[in-house]
This record gives sequence, structure tokens and C-alpha cells, in this order.
Amino acid sequence: MSDRIANAKLRGKVMTAEEAAEFVNNGDNVGISGFTGAGYPKALPTAIANKAKAAHERGEEYMISLFTGASTAPDCDGVLAEADAIRFRTPYQSDPILRSKINDGTTYYMDYHLSESGLYVEQGFFGQMNVAIVEAVRITEDGHLVPSSSVGNNVEYLDNAEKIIIEVNSWQSEELEGMADIYRINKLPNRQPIPITDPGQRIGTTYIDIDLDKVVAVVETDLPDRNAPFKPIDDQSKQIAGHFLDFLEGEVAAGRLTYDGYIMQSGVGNVPNAVMSGLLDSKFENIKAYTEVIQDGMVDLIDAGKMTVASATSFSLSPEYAERMNKEASKYAKTIILRPQQISNHPEVVRRLGLICTNGLIEADIYGNVNSTNVTGSRMMNGVGGSADFTRNGLISSFITPSDAKGGAISAIVPMVSHVDHTEQDVKVIITEYGYADLRGLAPRQKVKKMIALAHPDYRPLLEEYYERALAKAEANKTMQTPHDLATALSFHQRFQDTGTMKLS
Ligand code: COA
Repeated sequence: MSDRIANAKLRGKVMTAEEAAEFVNNGDNVGISGFTGAGYPKALPTAIANKAKAAHERGEEYMISLFTGASTAPDCDGVLAEADAIRFRTPYQSDPILRSKINDGTTYYMDYHLSESGLYVEQGFFGQMNVAIVEAVRITEDGHLVPSSSVGNNVEYLDNAEKIIIEVNSWQSEELEGMADIYRINKLPNRQPIPITDPGQRIGTTYIDIDLDKVVAVVETDLPDRNAPFKPIDDQSKQIAGHFLDFLEGEVAAGRLTYDGYIMQSGVGNVPNAVMSGLLDSKFENIKAYTEVIQDGMVDLIDAGKMTVASATSFSLSPEYAERMNKEASKYAKTIILRPQQISNHPEVVRRLGLICTNGLIEADIYGNVNSTNVTGSRMMNGVGGSADFTRNGLISSFITPSDAKGGAISAIVPMVSHVDHTEQDVKVIITEYGYADLRGLAPRQKVKKMIALAHPDYRPLLEEYYERALAKAEANKTMQTPHDLATALSFHQRFQDTGTMKLS
């Protein structure tokens, strides 16, 4: 048995994943660790999936409601979805099989803000949390859990579940110990301000204390996090990064930012990761991050001495960078803090620190409303994640995107978004490879020209034509605040559904 389980009582609970899965019943609410492919349980999901398959073969029902930090991996969300074992899932996901089960109606998906998802569990909206399954680096002599490569909603699930199953993963470096900063927010009416005024402040403990009597099983694993590689940084991403830097330089010139005053939030995805690499050669120094995930680009900034503090809730690294983090965790622990997602994404702290936020999008409309989640209004991509936690409360909320998708068949700039995640009030800046649109201080009609200039040239005439039509209707109807022609506002999307492209044939 691994010497990573130092508590005598919990050593007596060690068993196989199959034995532990017997504690997870049909209909259970199961809260697990895991955030963007890091720190999720590696053995129990497959054991539960096998149990579900066997039950289905016997003609019995077996499905669970699955609560996570955010997305996990093929050997977690993927195997469970493939076994039709997930009835309900929340919050963020990005697994292709799970996505298809959500979109074919097998799985109910509650897409919700990451900062509040743990609170919802505490408030009892889902009923009793039955089982928490959490990966740890080790269990201390006192029975405290040292979290692995993500913290996520671990505390909320461990505190609220009837039964606890711990996976102790010896693949995770023991030197991760010290990165976590566990802090619980008092329940109402006893809330106090969260005492963070700088991203580097530690306010809690490096471990999670749990009720040992609730632990029903401890399972030993030795398996890697399954993080996906990022797409190579291409010319288009470099152009987007260049425009983002131009925007930041403009803020410095206007006296609203200094070269050593940049506190960043950077969203998940390939494009935000590419933008960070652009900062390597910039004039910005002493960059701090108060963000959700630590991506490859941020590790490069730390290595280059450009970033001095990174506060997040999880890693979201490519396999190569995850290996590196594991080997050199003690070095990075000086710069990196992993907090519960309630704290990493907390609106109170985000507003106080004055973050410059950068997230990806699915589409934006000519008035600056943003859809991050639902393709053509209905097909779930990943989820809102923490993008709204940051966008609503950041000092400057920017969105970065290529101007088109799927080989040009989809325009990222459309007349009217087919689903709204971020409203025109919250979206401050949008950036494509064609430049940036600074929308601050502008009324809706004043934004249109800037937004159309961001579109791919193939789509600009179609957008201009739409706007002229919308203006004519609005003048006649005296609806000039946000002119739209309702009959054709979603014509780009309709054309895509009918013909496979938003372009006119
Ligand atoms: N319609 C259909 N598909 C679209 C699309 C659109 N309008 N825009 C992008 N996509 C597809 C791309 O084609 C690509 O598909 P592929 O993986 O099959 O190639 C995929 O979405 C990813 O797009 P990419 O351009 O590589 O950008 P990205 O990796 O930066 O992801 C989002 C963009 C919107 C999917 C991603 O940022 C996201 O899920 N955001 C919501 C959550 C969030 O912002 N979290 C951050 C919180 S801190």
C-alpha cells in the first residue's frame, strides 16, 4: 500500500475501484473532482460505467447525476457518457461523447456559472449529494486531503455528500502539496469579505479537512491527467494576439493601464492560449493572473519571468506541459496558487482586482452581444464555464475569435446572436484577425461599423445589407435603439442549417 495514505483509519478503507463503485447507486447525485482534464478521478468512472453497462444488459436502470468542477476527460465524462450512465450533468463539459448525449437528449445538462455551481449544491437545489469522489495527492496523518492538479468544487462536494470515496493518485507529484489554498465562505447571514486584494495572497490551508466518518473507500491509482494538446499557434492566432497587444498599448497610452499593472484572466481554448504567447515579447512585466485555468502560455510567461503570480483553480495543460509541471511542481508552487472555484471566479474579488479578461466566443452580433455556448441557438458546444463570472465583473472584458469557423462556412459576426451568454452591457472589446472593436462608451448603432469591420470580408457585404434593411424597418417603426429586421435577423443561421454555409450560394 502506498505511503501516501498516512491516516491509519483510512488505510483500513483501501479497496479496488470495482468494490468502491458498489457504494454508487442508480439515481445517486455524485460530485467529483476534476477541472479541464486535471485532477479528476481516474478509476471510479470506468468502474461505475461498467456497473451501468451490466445493469443495462440485465434490463435494469442505472444512471447518475454527475457534478464536477468543470470538464474532465475521456476516461471520466467520456466513459460514463458512452455507457449511458449520466442522466444529469453540471456545470461545464467539453467531452465529444458527452456533448453528443446532451444534444441527442439522453443527458440533461445544466450549464451554469462555475463560481456559483458549488453554492447551488449547498443550497440543496439538487437534493442530497450522495457520494463525493475526489482525487488527492496524499492523505495526511490527520486524515486531511491534499488536492491534486485541480481544486474545483471539491470542498462543496466533500462537505455535502453522505459518502466519500478518495482516489490517491501516485502519478500526481507530491510536490503539488502547498499549491492549494482552501478557504470556505461563511454561510449567510455570516458572510465576510473575501480577504484578497492581490492575486498572490494566500488566505486558507493547503489541505481539505473532511469528516473521516463519511469515508467509505480509498482507491489507489497511478494514472496521468489526460489533458489535450493545444492547436499549433498559426498566423491567424498571431494576428489576433497582435491586435490584443495593440489594444493593451492603447490603454497604456490613455493612462488607464501601466506596463507593470496588468492583471489577467484568460479563458479556456486555443485562441486565448495563443494570445498569451504574444505577451512574451511585449513590454508588459510583472503580469499577474487571477484566472480559472493555467494553460501552457501562462507557464511560458512564468518561465520567462514575465508573470509573477498565477492564481487559478486548475491546470489546463497539454500533455507535454503537464509532465513538466509534475516534474517541477515545487519550483512552480512559488508562483501558482490553486483555489476553490468559488474563490478563483468570485465576482467580488474579480471586481476588486480590476481584471482584464479575455475569453473565446462562438458568435457575436453587430451590437456586441456574445454567444459562447449554443451553436445556431440550440446545439451545445461546451458551456458558459466561468466566462460570465469574469466578463460581468472584470474591468475590461474582451472576447477573441477567428472571424469565421468551419472553413469559412460560419461567420463569427452575425446580425443577431442565436443565443445570448454575454450582453452588450458586459462586452467591452471584441478582437478578430482583422482588428479590435472597442465598444466602450458607444450606443448600439455606434457599434455596428466597428463590428462589421471585424467580420471576414466575405461576410461584410451581407452584414451591411442586413443593417441597411434593419435601419429602414426601424425608421418606419420608430425602433431605432437597436434596429433589427426580425424576419431576417437569424437568416445567417437559417441559411447555414438549410445549405451548410452562411454564405449566399
Ligand atoms: N459555430 C460552430 N462551431 C464553432 C463556432 C461557430 N460559430 N465558432 C467556433 N466553433 C468551433 C470551431 O470550429 C472549433 O471546432 P473544432 O474543435 O471541431 O475545430 C471549436 O469551436 C473551437 O474553436 P476555436 O476557434 O479553436 O476556439 P477556442 O478553442 O478558443 O474555443 C469556444 C472557442 C467558444 C468553444 C471556447 O472558448 C468556449 O467553450 N468558451 C465558453 C467557455 C469559456 O469561455 N470559458 C472560459 C472561462 S474562464
